[in-house]
Amino acid sequence: MAEELLDLGKGFWNIRGNFRLAGLVNVGTHASLVRLGSGRFVLLDSYSLTGPLRERVMALTDGGRAVEAILNLHPFHTLHCEAMHRDFPDAALYGTVRHHQRLPALPWADAPVESAALAARYSDDIILSVPAGIDLVCAAEHVHAGSVLAWHKASGTLHVDDTLNLVPVPRLLRAVLPPPRLFLHPTLPQALAPGPGAVRDFRAWIRALAAQCADLRHLVVAHSGHRSFAPGAFAEALLAALRRISPRLERAEARRGSPAV
Ligand SMILES: [Fe+2]
Repeated sequence: MAEELLDLGKGFWNIRGNFRLAGLVNVGTHASLVRLGSGRFVLLDSYSLTGPLRERVMALTDGGRAVEAILNLHPFHTLHCEAMHRDFPDAALYGTVRHHQRLPALPWADAPVESAALAARYSDDIILSVPAGIDLVCAAEHVHAGSVLAWHKASGTLHVDDTLNLVPVPRLLRAVLPPPRLFLHPTLPQALAPGPGAVRDFRAWIRALAAQCADLRHLVVAHSGHRSFAPGAFAEALLAALRRISPRLERAEARRGSPAV
């Protein structure tokens, strides 16, 4: 996996970066640069930009001056927030309550990244979507299912951190294997929100996401890259992924005594 800037067209660039688990296996990470209708930019998530990658992002954004906000969408993706803020010091900085707690010295905007006010501000260009039925910030540090998803309407691109994933396929085999399969984060059952109806609410949210992204052309995910879809194919793949994990969700809900609806 190498650092790379993917130009997906219509004002959407996906920044592919390195992330080594325990300093060894490179599972990759990402951030995205989005040009708004106003001509200004927002960054989705953070990455420490260096070398040619940094030069290209700076060239696109008038040396960084055209970036008006950094939206950190995953509560457990905090490694690169300081570096991103250093590169774009005038951009408003958004994150979840966990970002605020982990990095209290950064000048976080008061409103969290999942707030309705922030979603409304960017709704002409980007639809920010918070999964229903699961906790965005889980107390258990290994449960990374929750994140805010960002749908860029102009390019038909969905930017997702860990909530959705693609089965990793080695680069050399991509030409001969079928496109990587979509799956929901394996810790999803542990992220179910308290109270009855969590599975019902999550399913309804997935169906709404499938409808919203019916014309999706590109899916970018944090740790397993990018996949293009023919119109309509993403919704089908998303609903299939939901069907595969549904028994585990139902069992998790039944175990704690609140029936799946
Ligand atoms: Fe992650």
